[in-house]
Amino acid sequence: MKDASIGIGLLGLGTVGSGVYKLLRENASQIAQRIGKRLEVRMVLERDPERARILGIAPATLARDFEEIIDDPQIQIVVELLGGVEPARAFMLKALRRGKHVVTANKDVVAAYGKELFEAADAGRVDFYFEASVGGGIPVIHALKENLAANKIEEVIGIVNGTTNYILTRMSEEQIEFSEALQAAQEAGYAEADPSADIDGYDAARKIAILASIAFNSRVTPENVFVEGITGIVPQDVIYARELGYVIKLLAIAREYNEGVEVRVHPAFLSRNHPLAAVQGVFNAIYINGNAVGETMFYGQGAGQMPTASAVAGDLMEIARNLESGATGRFPCSCYLDKHVIPIGQVHTNYYLRMIVKDKPGVMATIAGVLGNHQVSIASVIQKRTLFTNGERMAEIVLITHEVLEQNVQDALAVLKSLSIMGSIENMIRVEGEPRP
Ligand SMILES: NC(=O)c1ccc[n+]([C@@H]2O[C@H](COP(=O)([O-])OP(=O)(O)OC[C@H]3O[C@@H](n4cnc5c(N)ncnc54)[C@H](OP(=O)(O)O)[C@@H]3O)[C@@H](O)[C@H]2O)c1
Repeated sequence: MKDASIGIGLLGLGTVGSGVYKLLRENASQIAQRIGKRLEVRMVLERDPERARILGIAPATLARDFEEIIDDPQIQIVVELLGGVEPARAFMLKALRRGKHVVTANKDVVAAYGKELFEAADAGRVDFYFEASVGGGIPVIHALKENLAANKIEEVIGIVNGTTNYILTRMSEEQIEFSEALQAAQEAGYAEADPSADIDGYDAARKIAILASIAFNSRVTPENVFVEGITGIVPQDVIYARELGYVIKLLAIAREYNEGVEVRVHPAFLSRNHPLAAVQGVFNAIYINGNAVGETMFYGQGAGQMPTASAVAGDLMEIARNLESGATGRFPCSCYLDKHVIPIGQVHTNYYLRMIVKDKPGVMATIAGVLGNHQVSIASVIQKRTLFTNGERMAEIVLITHEVLEQNVQDALAVLKSLSIMGSIENMIRVEGEPRP
């Protein structure tokens, strides 16, 4: 008689691990009905036994070490929810090579070592699933790998970091400083005590590296992603964005061109008409354009205990179904191509430029001349405020450019900075889409 359960080894009983345990317990009968087998957590690896006690997990279920888990022949799937790179990466590699299927939510490891992990899964003839590593509970990885697989994906644009979207939403709604909005995020439990991975854009970079690798069947690692965080955004930029019909969002953008792929994370002026512009607070969304499907958008909670557990448990059920039908290995590494990653200087987009200059006749003509010499054409000059710096009358100028090569803008800014009329270049923010007239 076939065994009626599938054995799971659960690594980590923190936020997500506890959520997975609770979900498998609370929805056990429904899950069993749907896959025809029970999912049974046979062993747990966790440093803090108190976490197991709170969940009512018997002490005998706690593994002494990882070896005990991979040596158990009745454990077919290892769920890695420890976080960090090591020992999570080493544990996953070992499990896969030993013929255990692996599910993880670990974007750090998947983004940097995805290829190695897939090779190990191939060697062990097992499945490697990581839906929860991007967008928490949002099922975007499966959508890309399965439902949208017939498309040529043209672009993927994500709001994939809830902390920064919360901060930017608060800045936009209340016109408060970045530091104040960050503090509010920390008080609400949406930002870590050390928020740098979120506010500097590195968390989003890992997620877009994963999505780009799948969407373009190539290998994109976090080092390939241009990253700029949101710490330089001030209320003045938020106000001008609104006046001009935009919102400021931290976007993770991946696009494919004939010359290669462009993968970048930075704050952007996003047209209020764009579907992503309505994504507020800690919510995440991923907007995908495919040549057959057209525009689609996936929206939901990008983190949190139960949304993330939902994605992990979904992966477990899919592996169980694969096991039942002898269909393991349906989704090997999608990164079989090696596409050129276009450097940021070669990217074409529009730019918002805010600068403080001496308020003198002819200054605008000088600025327009420098920009023109670098093929940067101005779509609109939209604001002008008078300020006094050390008693000198200065003017704030806000420009939006037409689409232009980034290198040209950088070169023009370098020249502008050296001019005697220049007070300061206050900000340069990329604009998503042609500015509206
Ligand atoms: N939290 C979310 O909303 C969310 C969303 C999407 C993806 N993720 C990903 O899910 C993973 C888990 O995140 P989490 O928020 O659940 O983290 P967490 O709350 O810190 O949980 C990790 C747990 O694993 C334990 N642990 C770590 N290393 C261990 C080791 N070597 N041996 C035994 N126990 C160990 C930790 O114990 P100690 O506390 O004692 O170290 C902790 O209890 C991460 O990769 C994260 O990026 C999380």
